[in-house]
Amino acid sequence: MREKRFKTRSVEETLELGGKIAGMLRPPLLVVLRGEVGAGKTTLVKGIAEALGAATEDEVTSPTFTIVHEYVGTAVRLFHLDLYRLETEEQIAVLGLDEMAGYENSLVLVEWGERFESVVKMAGGEIYMEHGEGDERGLILRLKE
Ligand SMILES: Nc1ncnc2c1ncn2[C@@H]1O[C@H](COP(=O)(O)OP(=O)(O)OP(=O)(O)O)[C@@H](O)[C@H]1O
Ligand SMILES: [Mg+2]
Repeated sequence: MREKRFKTRSVEETLELGGKIAGMLRPPLLVVLRGEVGAGKTTLVKGIAEALGAATEDEVTSPTFTIVHEYVGTAVRLFHLDLYRLETEEQIAVLGLDEMAGYENSLVLVEWGERFESVVKMAGGEIYMEHGEGDERGLILRLKE
């Protein structure tokens, strides 16, 4: 397990950090994004998507209601999921996560994925985000390897 810690002090810094982290994620890979509501998970995905040329920051919106958004980049096929509203493994089973994660160039980023054992099993890593003072956020990136 490789572990790296980061701190950001603004939305801008989190977007930038997303760009840096994008370079550390090697597809095919599924990463669980953990952290409470408003921790900055979706903001980080915006930074990652932009750096990968998969979508602009504005194009990346929270998939809270749609569950999954797909962005096709030059080198990466990015899937952004938010499982907050799902409750059972049966609901996870019909999402087709296997298929999403099955492309050679898949990067699957899953908010609230830690709530489901099947998702945790598929994960090659996790990013934990926590609130600090004001706009500060702490991040821990863990990658299996
Ligand atoms: N350093 C920071 N990094 C990221 N977001 C920040 C930061 N400081 C303040 N914010 C604010 O925190 C919120 C983060 O929202 P975001 O949607 O990214 O969180 P989330 O973890 O995806 O939440 P949810 O679990 O509801 O999906 C935004 O309102 C943003 O403006
Ligand atoms: Mg979110």
